[in-house]
Amino acid sequence: MKFFADTADTAEIRELAETGLLDGVTTNPSLIAKSGRDFKEVTKEICGLTDGPVSAEVVALDHETMMREAEVLRKIADNVCIKVPLTIDGLKTCSKLTDDGTMVNVTLCFSANQALLAAKAGATFVSPFIGRHDDNGIDGMHLIEDMRLIYDNYGFETQILAASIRHATHVLQAAKIGADVATMPPKVIKALADHVLTQKGLEGFTADWAKTGQSIL
Ligand code: E4P
Repeated sequence: MKFFADTADTAEIRELAETGLLDGVTTNPSLIAKSGRDFKEVTKEICGLTDGPVSAEVVALDHETMMREAEVLRKIADNVCIKVPLTIDGLKTCSKLTDDGTMVNVTLCFSANQALLAAKAGATFVSPFIGRHDDNGIDGMHLIEDMRLIYDNYGFETQILAASIRHATHVLQAAKIGADVATMPPKVIKALADHVLTQKGLEGFTADWAKTGQSIL
């Protein structure tokens, strides 16, 4: 499973990239607003922090303007992945962009039928929003299960990019189902390493080592 950081905070991305665990980054207009930075400038900086895909989202709602925005965004760096919404105009844009080899992430996916359309449009990634389903009392994992089944039924190469992840259990469940990618807030990526018994074990080893009076270095 690939791990993408769901943030436009370059300090956090840099820190994660240094762990060697980061495979890409996703942003959206809300995350760009939260960063307080210029969209193109921060996207360029992020693209320099990872070799993996960096999703940059169009904000237009019509196909023609989406194409013009995508033209600007994909010039920022070779690893820019154009993010488009799951609407008919977004899917049309996806088809056009993927025809000439541009990576596309179709976002705001909330149903398996929408995911089927995104795959038919040739999307590189499709982003089902797990947490927002959960927020509305629906188990978002059922969507990931349905998508895995449908994509495997027809051999679609579109990657399932589990998004709107809120906690480590979401990551575990998505990995068990076989989502190709999980995009997570950096704090969730770090939380995957946490276990109370790891901490307790370390405290015991550190205390016992101190009693030996030895040093490795
Ligand atoms: C990622 O591509 C999505 O934009 C993001 O995961 C949405 O997450 P949220 O529901 O926490 O805003």
